[in-house]
Amino acid sequence: MAIAIKSQREIELMREAGRILAITHEELKKAIKPGITTYEIDKLGEEIIRSYDCIPSFLNYNGYPASICISVNEEVVHGIPSKNRYIQEGDIVSLDAGVIYKGYHSDAARTYGVGQVSKEAEFLMETTKQCFFEALKVATAGNHIRDIGIAVEQYAVQRGLGVVIDLVGHGVGANLHEEPEVPNFETKRRGAKLKAGMTIAVEPMITLGDYEVDWLDDDWTVVTRDGSLAAHYENTILITEGEPEILSRAEGLEL
Ligand code: MF3
Ligand code: CO
Repeated sequence: MAIAIKSQREIELMREAGRILAITHEELKKAIKPGITTYEIDKLGEEIIRSYDCIPSFLNYNGYPASICISVNEEVVHGIPSKNRYIQEGDIVSLDAGVIYKGYHSDAARTYGVGQVSKEAEFLMETTKQCFFEALKVATAGNHIRDIGIAVEQYAVQRGLGVVIDLVGHGVGANLHEEPEVPNFETKRRGAKLKAGMTIAVEPMITLGDYEVDWLDDDWTVVTRDGSLAAHYENTILITEGEPEILSRAEGLEL
């Protein structure tokens, strides 16, 4: 299957999906406080998404049992919300969410510190976010998928951080996961050429230690093998001839 080039209509729908997703993230950011459970965060997220007549992309996706992936500290991605998991001061919490608006998906993740976090944790979160923006600089028509991976990897590795290689970004649109895969590291092959109208989710997953990860026995939660902290930052973007457009954003809200 070739990589889908979205029509103007499809792009409009993805902008709206992205706007609603950005609002959802903004509301969830406010809710993250010591004492809240990850279950409560998930329920709130689902409620917000449904209040906009959208569907949570992740719920039941390949059997995933919740709407928001909530990954705390050494959990990298795909943490399952739980009534027994209380957020604590000093935690770093990654929230990954997807919404479907009129058949089109937007996918975005953020990592937040709860109250006072360590200098290292702060550095990790900032660098992970900046990895995305480094990728954005090269996500232009005519470049290749590999350019994105090189940008992310260089920025993280130069700063002494680990780049997770077992999970990758992806095309997104009528499906949550479409071609192409978007690795956060340099691949041997240059991969697909970027073209205007492609929509992809760029999602660096970065650790304070080694890059190796393991899956917990719930078959979802990905954790760092060495127990080091991990962060995740993701946006859905539109490739254009010039600067890419971030679709998972809303006017006046922080990225
Ligand atoms: N945002 C994740 C991704 O980029 C999706 C989570 S997988 C799910 O692929 F099963 F939870 F949906
Ligand atoms: Co994604």
